[in-house]
Amino acid sequence: MSWHPLQAYGDLAADVREVLISADQIHQRVLELGQAISHDYAGLNPLLVGVLKGVVIFMADLLRAITIPVEVDFLAVSSYTAALREQGVVRLVKDLEVPITGRHVLFVEDVIDTGLTLNYLLRTLRARQPASLEVCVLFDKPDRRLVDTPLKYLGFELPDRYIVGCGLDFRERYRNLPFVGLLKPAAFNSSATDPQR
Ligand code: PRP
Repeated sequence: MSWHPLQAYGDLAADVREVLISADQIHQRVLELGQAISHDYAGLNPLLVGVLKGVVIFMADLLRAITIPVEVDFLAVSSYTAALREQGVVRLVKDLEVPITGRHVLFVEDVIDTGLTLNYLLRTLRARQPASLEVCVLFDKPDRRLVDTPLKYLGFELPDRYIVGCGLDFRERYRNLPFVGLLKPAAFNSSATDPQR
């Protein structure tokens, strides 16, 4: 799939200092992940589970790269307090719509930083006794990891930098960029990125 050139993204592109991974590279890697998942889960009717909202872009692309029957569902979480957030304790504000007991579940994330959110949610899902529970992540920032969790499928490793695009946001902006990149320092302070403006 080809996308608009960088300049077409106007103000959003103007805030980007450097493209780290191009849209083509991401597309190619997602196709490979879909192929591997299609092979590994053939005949198992897996359920892909994502956490809103950053994952939606990766999930949509991954689903279309999977060539076997597959289902999808979403969770939504919210932090209780900053302190609890630091411990990775989150509140489910939207639960799955389907039971997962006995199902082959593949947990899909756009990015893993500390691993705390993932760890907490995996424990929650594991308690429901799925037949299997594995993880597929598009971007991993291993330098920030506090809780180690095996990632069965991984797209790319990234440095410990604030990245945007492909679902990743800064104050809800930039999710729609088809690549991932670094923001210019000014973009972090700009009133243009202030959702209250
Ligand atoms: C991101 C990502 C994970 C979490 C990972 O979500 O989608 O859920 O952070 O961080 P951790 O490994 O340090 O726990 P975010 O809170 O940015 O919400 P969003 O998906 O709505 O952008």
